[in-house]
Amino acid sequence: MALTILGIESSCDDTSAAIVRDGVMLSNVIASQAVHEAYGGVVPELASRAHQQNIIPVVSEAIHRAGIEKSSIDALAFTRGPGLMGSLLVGTSFAKGFATALDIPLIDVNHLQAHVMAHFIRVEGEENRQPAFPFICLLVSGGNSQIIRVDSYKEMQVLGQTIDDAAGEAFDKCAKVMGLGYPGGPVVDRLAKTGNPSAFVFSRPHIPHYDYSFSGLKTSFLYLLRDALKENPRFIEEHLNDLCASLQFTVVEILMEKLRRAVEDTGITEVAVAGGVSANSAVREAFRVHAERYGWNIYLPRLSFTTDNAAMVAITGYYKYQDRDFCSIDLPPFARVAL
Ligand code: KG4
Repeated sequence: MALTILGIESSCDDTSAAIVRDGVMLSNVIASQAVHEAYGGVVPELASRAHQQNIIPVVSEAIHRAGIEKSSIDALAFTRGPGLMGSLLVGTSFAKGFATALDIPLIDVNHLQAHVMAHFIRVEGEENRQPAFPFICLLVSGGNSQIIRVDSYKEMQVLGQTIDDAAGEAFDKCAKVMGLGYPGGPVVDRLAKTGNPSAFVFSRPHIPHYDYSFSGLKTSFLYLLRDALKENPRFIEEHLNDLCASLQFTVVEILMEKLRRAVEDTGITEVAVAGGVSANSAVREAFRVHAERYGWNIYLPRLSFTTDNAAMVAITGYYKYQDRDFCSIDLPPFARVAL
């Protein structure tokens, strides 16, 4: 008998629903929220309202595109946290109502675990290479930067993580001060392509173990702009590509230095990357270079699985279903949960 899972993701500013059948993605619908662009960042209250407007059409569309009947859904997996509480409440409440109406089990999913599990989504007609256990996963998004040791679908251990800002936040905040809008990461990536990565030097963190810090880089970037703008008010526009390339180069160097150390120390050469920043072309290139230089087997997610999506929630639900790892209807969402 086929096992069909509906996944729902609403942790931040993307409303998404997906259908996964026997580990194969049948649909993955994502409604992004343009409303935040004007504010230079996600406004939690506006995100919750947009989720409320989007969730029913997004779920209907996911079921329609999958070409299935509602009645053939065996279980519903939803993101419980971490994320914005108002946004999570919309997805969680909808999931509970829908699962109750269909009389199917509910599966709570950790958003960070789901990003890692994106590597196990199979897509019809694609190569579908999957990392072998154990593997190391660099999880880099707008809210997190972590090095995770993954021993199985459910055993994941955080080896190191950011003690302040995440890598995506560093991109977004520096992009904001250059007037590049939100989210700035993809814009920096595009402009960096024609810039000189060694034009400017920014500070690097000196913190122990496998942990990250990006607040010093952000401050050093701000100070450079502040001082340069006093001399030349057109400094940003005249050096935009070089600023983006140097910023991106520094972020990638910081990320790869700790990752390299974790790979060396653990001896695990299966290495994956996940989360929104894994869409970054320099991060991807750094992985390819490391694969060649150090013999890593690397796993880069499809671009559509890098940012928040429900297919990664549904696939996590698919594996939790095998263990009958269901949750009760009264389980509350959590804004902050560990992996
Ligand atoms: O995983 P995600 O969709 O949301 C969180 O759970 O945080 O990641 C969003 C983050 C944003 O900070 C965005 O700027 C960044 O991923 N991002 C990128 C790129 N595409 C998305 N950063 C750098 N280069 C990119 N191409």
